[in-house]
Amino acid sequence: MHVIVDGATIEITDEGATLLDVLREDAGVRAVKDGCSPQGQCGCCTVLVDGRPRVSCVTPVRRVRGREITTVDGLPGEVALAWAAAFTATGASQCGFCTPGIICRFEGLRAKGTRPDDRAAAAAALQAHLCRCTGWQSIVDAWGAFGTEPVPASSAAARRAEIEGRVPHEVGVEIALGRGGFADDAAPSDALVAVLSSEGDEWVVAESRAEAMRSAGKVQGRRTTAAFDPPVELPAGDYDRTLRTTWVDPAYLETDASWCRPGGEPASPLANGGAFGAKVDREVAAVARRLADEHQRPVRVRYSREDAVRRGPKRPPIAAGINADGTGVVRVVRTPGIATAIAAVAPGLVVEEVDVAGPPTSASLRGAGWVEAVVLLSAVRDEVGWIDSPGGGSATATVADDGSITVRVRAGSVLDETVLRSYCIGAAHMALSWVTSESLGVDADGEIHDLTIRSFGVLRAIDTPPISVAIESDDGEPVNGSDAVFAAVAAAVWRSRGFPPVWPTGS
Ligand code: FES
Ligand code: FES
Repeated sequence: MHVIVDGATIEITDEGATLLDVLREDAGVRAVKDGCSPQGQCGCCTVLVDGRPRVSCVTPVRRVRGREITTVDGLPGEVALAWAAAFTATGASQCGFCTPGIICRFEGLRAKGTRPDDRAAAAAALQAHLCRCTGWQSIVDAWGAFGTEPVPASSAAARRAEIEGRVPHEVGVEIALGRGGFADDAAPSDALVAVLSSEGDEWVVAESRAEAMRSAGKVQGRRTTAAFDPPVELPAGDYDRTLRTTWVDPAYLETDASWCRPGGEPASPLANGGAFGAKVDREVAAVARRLADEHQRPVRVRYSREDAVRRGPKRPPIAAGINADGTGVVRVVRTPGIATAIAAVAPGLVVEEVDVAGPPTSASLRGAGWVEAVVLLSAVRDEVGWIDSPGGGSATATVADDGSITVRVRAGSVLDETVLRSYCIGAAHMALSWVTSESLGVDADGEIHDLTIRSFGVLRAIDTPPISVAIESDDGEPVNGSDAVFAAVAAAVWRSRGFPPVWPTGS
């Protein structure tokens, strides 16, 4: 049978492959991304089938035989550019991993005649997608900005993005079109493919991804409906405020990937950022190098979504009590560097590290430890106040009765207002989502029961209130502002809910 991919006929034999397999592995279209296959939950693999958006990782290719498949690469040049310009001008594409799928979704919506001012339709269309970086609002702005003149790439924009994302970042239409240099996209087509076995104890290497997945016996991730308590018990004593947090997943969209030639340097799994402090130990890079040397062939290595959930580091959960004078105790899951991070901002808090069965934790994740500490300190004040991040930025935030969030941020010289605003909105969304909605089911033995990306509780576009950002610029050295926004919005949201002692608080 055959399918027509971006105008070219691709002959295939039906071996049960999905459309995504055919697009990425057979047709070599790397603009179509795999964030969770075969879970069908992130939308990164969305393409147009006869003009209608479809999630390709859950579409058996036999169902679309003979039909016209259009990826973002196959859109007419002026249409692709008009969307990419809209996403760039509104700051709607940061790492860019989710963007090609969303552009296909929006193009399908536009082709139906949906008006550019219909933000509700755009937000509803985004229900099939996840974006971890932007907090949605800029993407809804991009819907209304189709046709905007392209903004030339600027080094100031890239520098601001790098300061906020903490790893090298590019900004521009190429990023919006999914060309951020992701490791799994850049690997040579003749590379062997390595995936983790179902038990996670060995790497299975094969000529193709489909073959490797079959040999590894990979099964689709699952989620649980069981409720789990926060894992750390409160310290004894009377406190003015207490807080227990639970396991949460960083939920970056591009799962860990690398590739390497024999004797070469492995590709960075961080590519255009978007990991929020995760992926720093880069297991996949070391594995790619080892397997390439062993097989004397280039090797591609990539986590499935379930692998990323099981092996990726989590924010260390805490249980804490604080008094009005800023003294108290924070019990936290034992994690290298976490006690120092807390002590740096809250010397009055005693830190007790405890051993708890569970997934790996990391103090590298966005604001881990110090954000919880400044949120506790803010909770015993009369107002959120300005919160300073160790990175030098400052922010404050309020939540109105209708739920809308207002942020003020100081991050030194702005460099690029669109980019800074985008990262601040993303950080505000992440904080709101963390405090009110996110959790990961982990049982008393430390086993994770939520292995699908939707089960983490990331707030959807339609559940996200308006977020406005006021930037107070100065001529100082540019510093990271979005981490301070993350802390300030977490503090403001907790306050707005009346300081419930357990996160997530629920809406
Ligand atoms: S990769 Fe298909 S929906 Fe996530
Ligand atoms: S820009 Fe959407 S996940 Fe990074």
